[in-house]
Amino acid sequence: MDFKKEVAGIISSLVDMEVEKVMELMEVPPHANMGDYAFPCFQLAKVMRKAPNMIAAELAAKVQTHAIIEKAEAAGGYLNFFLNKNVFIGDTIKRVLEQGEKYGYNSMGEGKTITIDFSSPNVAKPFHIGHMSSTIIGGSMEKIFRHLGFKVERINHLGDYGTQFGKLISAYKRWVDHEALEKEPINELLRIYVKFHEEAENNPELENEARAYFKQLEDGDKEAIALWERFRALSIKEFEQTYKKLHIEFDSYAGESFYTDKMGEIIDMLEDKKLLVESNGARIVDLSEFNLPPCLVIKSDGTTIYVTRDLAAALYRKRTYDFHKNIYVVGTTQSLHFSQLFHVLKLMGFEWAKDCVHIGFGLVKFPDRKLSTRKGDVVLLEEVLDEAVQRTMALIEQKNPDLKDKEDAAKKVGIGAVIYTFLKNNRDRDIVFSWEDTINFDGDSGPYVQYTYVRGKSILRRAGQLPETADYSVLTSDDEFNLIKLLGAFGDSVKEAAERYEPFVVTRHITEIAKAYNKFYINHPILNAEESIKNARLHLTQAVCNVIKTGLKLICIETPEYM
Ligand code: ARG
Repeated sequence: MDFKKEVAGIISSLVDMEVEKVMELMEVPPHANMGDYAFPCFQLAKVMRKAPNMIAAELAAKVQTHAIIEKAEAAGGYLNFFLNKNVFIGDTIKRVLEQGEKYGYNSMGEGKTITIDFSSPNVAKPFHIGHMSSTIIGGSMEKIFRHLGFKVERINHLGDYGTQFGKLISAYKRWVDHEALEKEPINELLRIYVKFHEEAENNPELENEARAYFKQLEDGDKEAIALWERFRALSIKEFEQTYKKLHIEFDSYAGESFYTDKMGEIIDMLEDKKLLVESNGARIVDLSEFNLPPCLVIKSDGTTIYVTRDLAAALYRKRTYDFHKNIYVVGTTQSLHFSQLFHVLKLMGFEWAKDCVHIGFGLVKFPDRKLSTRKGDVVLLEEVLDEAVQRTMALIEQKNPDLKDKEDAAKKVGIGAVIYTFLKNNRDRDIVFSWEDTINFDGDSGPYVQYTYVRGKSILRRAGQLPETADYSVLTSDDEFNLIKLLGAFGDSVKEAAERYEPFVVTRHITEIAKAYNKFYINHPILNAEESIKNARLHLTQAVCNVIKTGLKLICIETPEYM
């Protein structure tokens, strides 16, 4: 039973308001002694021309005794509902156990497609820690949307186009070390790219050569294209090693180059609508009516740019996927770019411009610069993930050397710990990365949540077979009720995460569940309790494990069985 919806139904039957609207307004009171749900009467005050506290009092008197409600009380302008604990507890545990991985699922997205453009690194450039946010926020948004019934298209909009490929071809022909290219492609491509720039300082001829190669590439020259394809394929292969560690997959690698032949149509459309304005030889779209700087679409040398390809990509996505939402997970440093992009689409008359969303995020900072770095100041994601696994392994060796399948646990815990750090606060906040907070078993951390699951599973194993039935009416403590309330609200947290495009809402919710379970565990015996209580608490433990595992999965974190 969806208790919130039931309560909303009761309210809706008493006032002139749709159930959905009531649900939107409903809150969870800050203290348990104020009830389980609260309905604020302030909006009704305007329509009913009465003070909110009077409305709340009248409504409280009208709420009949009801199977799921113990009582309703007015408190100021709020109407507070106290659920019938017995019914709520029984129903919630039963639902979690029955629905398993599907618990918290909602059909709201059925029949709708969401495109998510995420990760989107640049070919032949290092995959650094800054790409982690996009990769992981995008990856969890995908899972969260799927849990709400949406169909999701995962798009990696690779940076695989531009004049730098002319330089790379030139550098490749002069200096490439073939063996190194096979072994560590991106490193080698970066090396020769850097060398190109060093050499070009004394030898300006190189720039001309690079321009000529880029022209060849654009004109479809076979050799140039074959080389470009090789750089691209080698880069993807290397990116995929990291994606594999993070369990991230894509449906499409249609990057910038994919839109080469699709920009002409966009430019024609812009011309038709008379949106292109001449400016110092370049062609721009004036966005002053939106208080934005002009959007440069064609440079003075006639070449297109990043945003031109994004215009083509947006139209392509609408036509191909008929998206309900078209999402871009890219750092807030590109906010202006996306704002301009969406406004140009709007001026072009595409009503779906309103469905395009930029999900920004802050920077990653390293207060302890002891992180290993190979190249200057870029911190490679691969190295951070590897170090996380090594550090976890060292901890396991120290704390639990007899653990079976240590490698598996070290991977799931180490990588999970890094992911958690990226999803623990709201997106806008910069991430301050420290090993101390990341690989930590006590605080708000991935290992802490995983450990709670492992603890629960260990209790269940010691108990043997899970009893088939249990009488939940014996679960009467506040610790138990608070824990079960959090389990009951899991679906709401998934929905909220989707609506706010904030996976951390799920992170925070399962962390609260873990804390509530540990509090319950410290205060109450499970295996040593009297038979009926033990059985009910085992069911509760199983339910907690289910929800933690599902929640972790939604934020791309795996759950070890032992650690
Ligand atoms: N390749 C770009 C970068 O690394 C990100 C691309 C984001 N997606 C897009 N459609 N513009 O900065």
